[in-house]
Amino acid sequence: MAEPKAVSALTRPQAKREHTRLALEIAEHDKRYYQNDAPSISDAAYDALRQRLLAIEARFPDLADGASPSQTVGAAPARGFAKVRHAKAMLSLDNAFTREDLSDFIARVRRFLNLGDDAPIFTAEPKIDGLSASLRYEKGQLVVGATRGDGQEGENVTANLRTIGDIPETLRGRTIPDVFEVRGEVYMTHADFAALNARQAEAGGKLFANPRNAAAGSLRQLDPAITAGRPLHFFAYAWGEASALPATTQFDMMDRFRDWGFQVNPLTRQVQSEAEAAAYYAMLAGQRADLGYDIDGVVYKVDRLDLQERLGFVARSPRWATAYKFPPEQAETELLAIDIQVGRTGVLTPVAKLKPVTVGGVVVSNATLHNEDEIARKDVRVGDHVIVQRAGDVIPQIVRVLIEKRPKNSEPYVFPQLCPVCGSHAVRDAAGSGGRSDVARRCTGGLTCPAQALERLNHFVSRDAFDIEGLGAKHLETFFEEKLITHPSDIFQLEKRIGSGAGALKDREGWGEASARNLFAAIDQRRTIALERFIYALGIRHVGEQTARVLARVYGSAEAFFGAMRAAAKGDEAARSELEGIDGIGPVVAAAIVDFIAEPHNEAELARLLGALTVTDAAKPAQSSPVSGKTVVFTGTLERMTRSEAKARAESLGAKVSGSVSAKTDYLVAGPGAGSKLKEATKLNVRVLSEEEWLALIGG
Ligand code: IVH
Repeated sequence: MAEPKAVSALTRPQAKREHTRLALEIAEHDKRYYQNDAPSISDAAYDALRQRLLAIEARFPDLADGASPSQTVGAAPARGFAKVRHAKAMLSLDNAFTREDLSDFIARVRRFLNLGDDAPIFTAEPKIDGLSASLRYEKGQLVVGATRGDGQEGENVTANLRTIGDIPETLRGRTIPDVFEVRGEVYMTHADFAALNARQAEAGGKLFANPRNAAAGSLRQLDPAITAGRPLHFFAYAWGEASALPATTQFDMMDRFRDWGFQVNPLTRQVQSEAEAAAYYAMLAGQRADLGYDIDGVVYKVDRLDLQERLGFVARSPRWATAYKFPPEQAETELLAIDIQVGRTGVLTPVAKLKPVTVGGVVVSNATLHNEDEIARKDVRVGDHVIVQRAGDVIPQIVRVLIEKRPKNSEPYVFPQLCPVCGSHAVRDAAGSGGRSDVARRCTGGLTCPAQALERLNHFVSRDAFDIEGLGAKHLETFFEEKLITHPSDIFQLEKRIGSGAGALKDREGWGEASARNLFAAIDQRRTIALERFIYALGIRHVGEQTARVLARVYGSAEAFFGAMRAAAKGDEAARSELEGIDGIGPVVAAAIVDFIAEPHNEAELARLLGALTVTDAAKPAQSSPVSGKTVVFTGTLERMTRSEAKARAESLGAKVSGSVSAKTDYLVAGPGAGSKLKEATKLNVRVLSEEEWLALIGG
C-alpha cells in the first residue's frame, strides 16, 4: 500500500479530487452499513477515511459543503418501512482516538464555557456497538419507535421494538412527562449472537458477521414475529423531544430512566477530571473482553444539562460529548509470507508473516492461519491484502482476504508435504471410522526432528518407556542444548562422550560423584529392554502402551515386528493387512506405524538403537496351550465374559486376536447376534465355536 500524501502537501485541485472521492466512498459505506447491515470494511478503515476527509476539510474549509459526509449522519431510511421524522435530530458523536484528542475535547469544553482551569464533571459510559433507536412515549405509553436513519428521518420499527424485553410498553412511576423520547442502543450479547448464528447455520440461513449486524438485521425485519424470536437488548442513554426534564444532570437522568423501567449501563460513572476520565478509559478497556457484548469506546458527556444546553451542537454532533474509541481490533495489511512452524508434537502450523500493522494498539506482524484446511477454505495467498483481527489476548487471526485487491499473478498456496525443520515426510492421519481426516499435518521424523526432539527424548526416558532414573527434563534440556544428546541413541553414548576427565559429568553443575554414577548405572541397566517398552518408547503416533503391548505379543521379536513393518511400508499387502487385522489396531494406527518406518530418518535412528541395545522378545505364552499361535476372532454377544476379558485371556494363552475374518483365521467364536463375520467364516471354512465350546477348548 502506498502511503497517502500528507494532507499538508496536497495542492488545492488534488485536495478537491480526493475529497470528492472520499465523500463518495464514505457515502457508499454508509449505505452498506446503515441500510443493508452488511459493511464491507472494518470500523477502523471507515474511521480512517473519515479522519482523512476531516483533515482535508480543516485545510480547505470551503470543501465542507452541505453534501459532505462531515455534515450528515448515517444514511436515508431503506424502503419497506414507513418513515418517521424525528422531532429532534438524532445526532452522532465526535470521535477521539488518542489521549491528546480527549485532552483537546476537555479543553474545548472548558474554553467554550469559560471555566478557566476547572473541568466540569462528565459522565463516562461504554459506547455500545449496536444500532440506535428512538422511543416516543406519550402519557407514558410507547407510541412510536424508530431507527436513526439519516438523523432526520428513520424507519418506523415500532412493532419490532415492542418485542424487546428491555423496552417498557408503559413507563413506571408517577412523574412522567407528557411527551418523552428515550434514545439508546439496541444490541445483542456475544452468547446470543453465537447461538443465533448456530441456529441460522442449522437452518441453512444467512450468517451474521458480528453482533451489531445481527442486531440490526434482527430489528429491521419486516415481519415483527421474526424480531420477536431474536434475543435483542436495549440500553437507554439519551433523549430527544421532552415536554419536561425530570433531572438536571445526565447522571440523574439515567437514574430516572432506570426508575421508568429501562436498562441503563451499570458501568456509567461520573468523572471529575481529565485524569479520572483517562483512568475510566483504561479500566473499561481492561474489562472489554469480559462484558459479554461489544463496545467500541467510551462516551464522555458534560454532566450538567444547563451546560449541555450552552454548548449546543455543531453540524452532526453535540459539542458537549465525545466518543473516545478503543484502538481498532481489525486492520488491513499485506501477507508477506506463510511460515511453517513445527510444534513439539510434530504438528505443522502455518503462520502468516504480515507487513507490520497496529491492531488494538499493538504492532502485529504474525497471525495464525490455523491449519492447511483453513488456508484452503479462505483461499489465503501470499501477496494478498488481508484483514487481521486481534481481540483481547488471543493470537491475531486473519479474518478474510480482500479478493478485490489480489495481485494478478497470485497462486494458490501449496501446503508443504515435508517437514521444514528435518525434511521428513509430513502426513495427515487417514480418515478414521468417523470418515474425517485429522486437520493437522504432522512430521513423521519423530526420532530425529529437532523440533520434536526434547518432547521425544522426555517420552523415551519416561517411566513406562525406558524408565531412566536421574535423567529428568532439565538435564535432558541441558544435554540437548550442548548437543550431547539430540537423538535417543545418544543417551547410550553419553558416558563415552562426556568422558571421565576434567569436565566429566560429576564436575558439572547440578551433578555430583554419586548422581553421575547412578545415572550411568541407570542407563546401563536399560541396554536390555523388553520389546513392548521399546516399541512404546519410539513415540509412534497412536501407539500407546496398550497398542505397543499388543504389537509385541503378536510379532514376538524386534526382527519380526520391524521386518513386517518394513515389508508393509514397501507395499507388501499381506503384511499390511495382517497389521490392520490385529484387534485394536485398524487402518489409522497401521498407517501411522507404516509412515514412521517409511521415513528414512527414523530408520537410521532405529538401526543405531538396535545396534546399541538388546531388545528382548515378548514373553512366550504357555507352549502347552491348545490355542497358542492360533488366530481367533470374536463376534456376537459373549455371555460369560466381556469382549475385553475374552481377548485378554486368549492373548495370554498365545492366541492372536483379530478383528476380521480371513483365510488365516483359525477359530471364530460366535455368540448370539453374530452376522457378517459368521457368514464370512462359513464361506472360508473357518471353524466356528460357540462360547461354551471355546471355553472347553481353552480349559474353562
Ligand atoms: S450518546 C447526541 N451514548 O454511538 C448524542 N451514543 O457514534 C447521542 N452510542 O449514534 C448519542 N453508545 O448509536 C451515546 N453511551 C452512548 C452510546 C452511543 C453507543 C452510539 C449511538 C450514536 C453513535 C455515535
